[in-house]
Amino acid sequence: MTLSNKNAPYRNHYNNILTLVTGGAGFIGSHLSEALIDLGAKVIVLDDLSGGEQANLDSFAPRAGNKLTFVKGSILDRPLVDKLMRDVRYVFHQAAWGSVPRSVEMPETYHQINITGTVNVLEAARAAKVQRVVFAASSSAYGDTPTLPKVETMPVLPRSPYAATKVACEAMLRAYANCYEIDTACLRYFNIFGPRQNANSAYAAVIAAFAKNLLGGQRPRIFGDGEQSRDFTFVDNAVHANLLAAFSPNKIGGEVMNIACGRRVTVNELATKMAAMLGREDLTAEHLPPRAGDVAHSLAALEKARQLIGYEPVVDFDTGLAATVQWYKQVM
Ligand SMILES: NC(=O)c1ccc[n+]([C@@H]2O[C@H](COP(=O)([O-])OP(=O)(O)OC[C@H]3O[C@@H](n4cnc5c(N)ncnc54)[C@H](O)[C@@H]3O)[C@@H](O)[C@H]2O)c1
Repeated sequence: MTLSNKNAPYRNHYNNILTLVTGGAGFIGSHLSEALIDLGAKVIVLDDLSGGEQANLDSFAPRAGNKLTFVKGSILDRPLVDKLMRDVRYVFHQAAWGSVPRSVEMPETYHQINITGTVNVLEAARAAKVQRVVFAASSSAYGDTPTLPKVETMPVLPRSPYAATKVACEAMLRAYANCYEIDTACLRYFNIFGPRQNANSAYAAVIAAFAKNLLGGQRPRIFGDGEQSRDFTFVDNAVHANLLAAFSPNKIGGEVMNIACGRRVTVNELATKMAAMLGREDLTAEHLPPRAGDVAHSLAALEKARQLIGYEPVVDFDTGLAATVQWYKQVM
């Protein structure tokens, strides 16, 4: 599924523009690549397939023709990143290892891939005189403070190695915009969901994991009492935010902004809703002990993204959830 860009301010902006999407074979990156292709952009996808799949590009690769180039490789391979960066105008930096619990098990690997990888991308972008790097930051930066909604002026309080890597990268993006002739922007995504989100990993995000459980005839598994809440955000909103951020005529200067829907849903409500959508109300949730590093509640203030890049969510939670459940039904 891609956004209808008919009324978007950037609808005529990307035609024939060369872009690099790191992590472009992943969940969010593949939707972003697809939207760029549909806007006429030339897209290089750099992905080592450690989390994504080349099959995520299959549905739109045929209509992309020679405008889409897939390169299997790592953001840690500096000569490769340098080579791919030539003549690129915008970098959408999505490549990273996700998952809070896995980062608790492997902090050094997360440091290497997420932080060193990002600095590689920034160095190559700077050398190639890229106009703007847009970074996939994370709401996990806010930690577990009770204050809601989360506003960008709040202190960062990362509770896991994953969150800490994202905060470190935000600081690097800001520093690069300040010190060098390159502009950068940090989009703090809040629980993005949608088609192509990996349901098969042990660290799958909650909506993907619930879809897999319910379609497999199993009860959804909830860590904790399920009253934790999230600002679940359909992937088209994240794509839209990236396209707005790169397009912005004003300097962004490494500013951080929340990207979400501005609505909070508990994990219990989510499980009930998805079970009903799949006609499996009999599969009530099973509760497990809470996980280390998880936060209790999350809800975004959207004023800053509105003000800096003109962001408004384009697909609401219920519409996005219905489309997502439909997709998992088809592929599982
Ligand atoms: N999904 C969310 O809710 C969410 C929330 C906050 C932030 N983010 C961030 O958004 C970005 C995209 O997340 P996603 O949900 O699409 O995850 P994903 O795992 O589907 O996508 C990440 C992609 O990066 C690739 N990758 C990992 N290491 C790489 C490396 N060394 N070199 C090249 N490619 C590499 C993976 O193969 C994968 O395709 C990530 O940076 C993630 O941290 C996601």
